[in-house]
Amino acid sequence: MSEGRKKITLPYLFKKVADGEPITWLTCYDYPTAYLQEKAGIEMILVGDSLGMTMLGYESTLPVTMEDMIRHSQAVRRGAPTAFVIGDMPYMTYQPSVETAIRHAGRFMAEASCDAIKLEGGESMADRIKGIVDAGIPAIGHLGLTPQSVSALGGFKVQGKDAALAKKIIQDAKTLEKAGAFMILLEMVPDRVCKLITERAENCIIMSLGSGPHAHGQLLIYHDMFGLYPRFKPKMAKVFGNAGEVILNGLQSYHDEVIQRKFPQAENWFGIPDEEYRELVRLIGEKS
Ligand code: KIV
Repeated sequence: MSEGRKKITLPYLFKKVADGEPITWLTCYDYPTAYLQEKAGIEMILVGDSLGMTMLGYESTLPVTMEDMIRHSQAVRRGAPTAFVIGDMPYMTYQPSVETAIRHAGRFMAEASCDAIKLEGGESMADRIKGIVDAGIPAIGHLGLTPQSVSALGGFKVQGKDAALAKKIIQDAKTLEKAGAFMILLEMVPDRVCKLITERAENCIIMSLGSGPHAHGQLLIYHDMFGLYPRFKPKMAKVFGNAGEVILNGLQSYHDEVIQRKFPQAENWFGIPDEEYRELVRLIGEKS
């Protein structure tokens, strides 16, 4: 639990790595969930563009806009004042140019009080990372399965299973570190490849999403952990509780109780004192 917790900072995260303690990280997109994650002591929160799928019902993350991201990041920050909150840069807010990337990264910091931003891609995005870091904004790289390139990658599948692609991911990680990324997320990269990258990292924190236990910490998609995404459950996600089932049962009970006139009961409504009611009836000229 995080009662009275101090603000999570970059030095705090690097100290955890130095002490050999894993960092906890989850996605989150709204105020009540952020409140609970903060209370549970989760250290980092990613306002992921996965909200396009988990919250807005799109088939992919590509339609998500900067306005969507800012609105949700603001809500998360209100619910989690001490967590290290990361704004995920949506599709085409950083790919076109370094300047575009810096401008959009700045919006996360200025308008939503984020602590850092994350963007997808390897060597070809290193100049975006450098530009953002030079502008004074902490930046996180994202390698392996990068959902904004899902079409080019041929689907949501493990990346780096063959030696040549694994070597490329290892090289990309080093390039992003040299460009100034303080953290790199490896999504669906084989565990031993993740271990090699973690061992080689000098001044960069390596985080795993489905990439095994050897990273400096773990990330999960909140909706996958609690049965809240109806379309599919990725292998890498562990279900820690079936909130989706609890909510569905509650909704069915509500439906049944309303049609059977069991809800509402007296404790669920508000009355008017007898004297006021008599006066009301007199005022409107009706017989009580
Ligand atoms: O948008 C997101 O939640 C992400 C994760 C898949 C890492 O980028």
